Amino acid sequence: MADNLTKSEVNRLIDAARLAREQAYAPYSNFPVGAAVLINDSEIYSGCNVENISYGLSNCAERTALFKAVSEGNRQIRAVAIFADTDRFCSPCGACRQVIAEFGRDVFVIQANNRGEYIINTIDELLPGGFTAEIMGKGAGV
Ligand code: THU
Repeated sequence: MADNLTKSEVNRLIDAARLAREQAYAPYSNFPVGAAVLINDSEIYSGCNVENISYGLSNCAERTALFKAVSEGNRQIRAVAIFADTDRFCSPCGACRQVIAEFGRDVFVIQANNRGEYIINTIDELLPGGFTAEIMGKGAGV
């Protein structure tokens, strides 16, 4: 089990997700989302949703942030924060849950709303019974 996140790590991640949301390209849904990924206990990568006229090609904020981190050589994902400007929490979609779970069952997922509230779960709690490397008889790739 990963160490719990500190309050300052949680706040830094939510701030980064809120800022990243401002870059969202969401002309079809008009639902801009920001996300931020914490690597170990220091570096942060952020991302936004990027939509496409061929709707199915749209990419969620979480996957944008994750792919940025991994493509820069960072696989030690400790936490992912998600922010949308709503009073509800922005729950990660099934595809993003599967992609987050690739980097460890104990990755923390922070859902933050525009009231300054947040909830934290592990990805294992959000994707129980997900498809894993063990099912294929392989060790985790990370
Ligand atoms: N979206 C995200 O980026 N993250 C989520 O957790 C939920 C949904 C995006 C996808 C799409 O661009 C828009 O929000 C509406 O679904």
